[in-house]
Amino acid sequence: MLDAVERKIEQFIAELEDKDTLNLYKKLPAGKRLRARLILAIAGDSLSVIKTAAIVEMIHGASLLHDDVIDDANTRRGVASINAIYGNKTAIMLGDILYSKAFYELSNIDPKLSRIISRAVTLLSIGERQDVVLSESFNSNEELYKQMIYNKTAVLIEASAEAAAYLAGKELKPYRVYGKNLGIAFQMVDDILDITQDSTTLGKPALADYKEGKTTLPYIYLYHSLPKDEQKVLRGMHKKELKEKESRWIAQKMQEYKVIQKAQLEAKELVKEAIEIMQNLGEVELESIATKMIERSF
Ligand code: FPP
Ligand code: MG
Repeated sequence: MLDAVERKIEQFIAELEDKDTLNLYKKLPAGKRLRARLILAIAGDSLSVIKTAAIVEMIHGASLLHDDVIDDANTRRGVASINAIYGNKTAIMLGDILYSKAFYELSNIDPKLSRIISRAVTLLSIGERQDVVLSESFNSNEELYKQMIYNKTAVLIEASAEAAAYLAGKELKPYRVYGKNLGIAFQMVDDILDITQDSTTLGKPALADYKEGKTTLPYIYLYHSLPKDEQKVLRGMHKKELKEKESRWIAQKMQEYKVIQKAQLEAKELVKEAIEIMQNLGEVELESIATKMIERSF
């Protein structure tokens, strides 16, 4: 079924009748397609469901193209990113093409569906801005971090689940809550993997967040666990290229205060709640998507 989504995206791009866009699009690896998987698992495989899944993945793809420009990234999904190969201008414009075609197609399906998705994309953009602003200085506020990841990542996953429930004529709320929990946990796991995994497994550089100024949940927990003098040491390493010795210090302190386990537990609690909701509804595939998401290593 996921294949049908890939073909729909290719068809949407082909309809633009621009060879250059098609060639550029072919350079984009597909990724995990979490949002499309969710939509299909909730709503089946009718044409409007396949289209919605394709639209959401195109919007997500556009947001990553722009994100890589904003983060000055060199790799995405294990290969060189579009901005790294063709420059920022190309990455931004390819994002614009994917994003606007997706909205054109969205407007042809259903007005309520359009509202669910477009509201999410506005919040997604606000979330990206919040991420950039928070990264300018050392953020030790857990609530600000959580609000930012909710907007930046969870909102589109939440909207995908809600949109799919709407298309399937199912009750919206349980799917919305499932999507929200899964989305927040997804970003928490992403932020944990940045610390625990190597770059080959991740398909992007490891330990990149702190260097970029992002104090993710394990860093926030660590900060609040450390004595004052060591808090200062940690702050001193913020937004810098770390020396081997400094990375080791952070790793050792994270181990000492068990902050990775603490962050993992928080993500697991959210997923557990999401799974329970789906168990009550007999949605076996959605339970399995949530389990796989929390157990992933990249
Ligand atoms: C990745 O975060 C970024 C996002 C999930 C959202 C990006 C959103 C925008 C750029 C605004 C919306 C733009 C459009 C065109 C809809 P990350 O940098 O933490 O993850 P990474 O390590 O995978 O890059
Ligand atoms: Mg990024």
